[in-house]
Amino acid sequence: MRKGPTIAVVLIALGASTGPGASADLQDFAAVERGRYLANAADCGSCHTIPGSEHPFSGGRPIETPFGVLAAPNITPDRETGIGSWTNNEFDAAVRRGISRNGARLYPAMPFPYYTRMSREDVADIRAYLNTIAPVHNAVQVNRLPFPFNLRAAMIVWDRLYFTPGEFHDDVSKSKEWNRGAYLAQGPAHCGACHTPKTVLGGDKPSEALRGYMLQGWTAPDITSGQGPLRNWSVDDIAEYLKAGHNKNAAAAGLMGEVVDLSTSKMTDQDTRAIATYLKGVTGMAPGSSATADKADKDVTAAGGAIFQDLCSACHQQDGKGVANMFPNLSEAATTSTQDPATVLRVILQGAQSVATDREPTGPAMPAFGWQLDDAQLAAVASYVRGRFGKNAPAVSADQVRKARAALTARTD
Ligand code: HEC
Ligand code: HEC
Ligand code: HEC
Repeated sequence: MRKGPTIAVVLIALGASTGPGASADLQDFAAVERGRYLANAADCGSCHTIPGSEHPFSGGRPIETPFGVLAAPNITPDRETGIGSWTNNEFDAAVRRGISRNGARLYPAMPFPYYTRMSREDVADIRAYLNTIAPVHNAVQVNRLPFPFNLRAAMIVWDRLYFTPGEFHDDVSKSKEWNRGAYLAQGPAHCGACHTPKTVLGGDKPSEALRGYMLQGWTAPDITSGQGPLRNWSVDDIAEYLKAGHNKNAAAAGLMGEVVDLSTSKMTDQDTRAIATYLKGVTGMAPGSSATADKADKDVTAAGGAIFQDLCSACHQQDGKGVANMFPNLSEAATTSTQDPATVLRVILQGAQSVATDREPTGPAMPAFGWQLDDAQLAAVASYVRGRFGKNAPAVSADQVRKARAALTARTD
């Protein structure tokens, strides 16, 4: 058994240095490595792997959509239950056009509206890399949506409304670095899939790109600059957040922690910087500028301030500025300014473990306060934080806290 592969390796080694197969083998190797890098940048492993599973890409992870739950299929090279018998064209059609092997439309829970920005070669390289993964036999029942959303035919209409196929093309008026960042953010890294507001049918609203969206029990905040919440973040601050999971303003936890862990922390420093350069050019609106936020009344603010002083200021400091790379600066973290308070409430109720990365191996944690504070107290401290440090963020009511508590208890993640 052992001899075969060894001999093959020797032959490849010999071929690489002398024979005519040399460049082809080296090319294959380069394609696989490029594919591995792109698969990480595109975070293919996150949805297509059950967290903690020893079988990457073997599928089965439930993916929440506004219409119900889908399960991501097996994309290992298993010939029966995976994609082992698919042609490269079939793979390309699924990834870049959302068309499955039998011609059916895929749901956009698979981010093909973003992956369409990748080139054919990019996707072929990802395939080359996936071919090197151990095949796993695992049949996944993908569609668990209720009627009428279980009807794939409806996706033809969706595609017509919201899907703009086509590769990314450089904008010649912009720098090379900006173009690389735009390609990554709008393509493989699909930042807008979580950060861009959606229509009722779950399509992106392009005119509001990256201005925040609520999904899977989190608010992915507005991450625009200009007047937007990241206006005081430098290119280096953003790049550091993506690479290390922390910077002087904020820390990544939950869904974004996973994105940093599996995807952006594995990018080169040039690439995280390129994304940051692109992001700094996305100028948004002042948070909540369309409406004047409801402020908490004086008593609630006073109660919230007292709780903050007692329970929060040891880490975040009285002025909310925190400690660089340890405890977020609540005035500069975009999460405090969101219209929808889901992330703030979740972090205070459940606590949060920020992500640990090679760059910063200890991810500081925030303790849970849900057991200690009742709904009114929690609403008071959340309103205080949002009113004092956030930018025009509405106050939070005890009723909202009660609902958030119930919703979080029902969640498994
Ligand atoms: C945000 C979650 C998510 C990410 C990220 C993701 N996928 Fe998917 N993928 C899905 C879901 C869900 C489906 C099933 C959609 C459906 O059936 O309509 C799917 C379907 C597919 C299919 C079709 C398989 C089949 O049996 O029909 C392929 C191929 C695929 N994904 C490859 C990839 C690759 C390659 C990447 C990275 C470039 C990737 N996916 C990233 C969620 C994801
Ligand atoms: C032991 C230190 C500690 C204490 C005490 C603490 N926090 Fe935190 N807090 C953290 C850390 C670490 C994070 C980063 C975790 C993360 O990624 O969200 C954080 C994150 C946050 C965030 C999210 C900021 C972001 O980066 O998105 C908010 C809001 C917040 N804390 C509010 C509070 C409030 C309100 C209290 C008191 C009720 C409190 N914290 C008490 C350490 C602490
Ligand atoms: C799977 C969904 C998802 C994807 C994909 C995603 N994000 Fe996030 N992001 C979130 C959520 C949820 C938060 C809030 C949680 C937190 O702060 O820890 C967040 C927080 C952030 C923050 C911190 C804001 C702050 O002040 O606390 C930045 C910056 C950010 N994301 C940038 C990006 C960029 C750039 C990309 C693409 C490379 C990206 N995100 C892709 C879900 C996502």
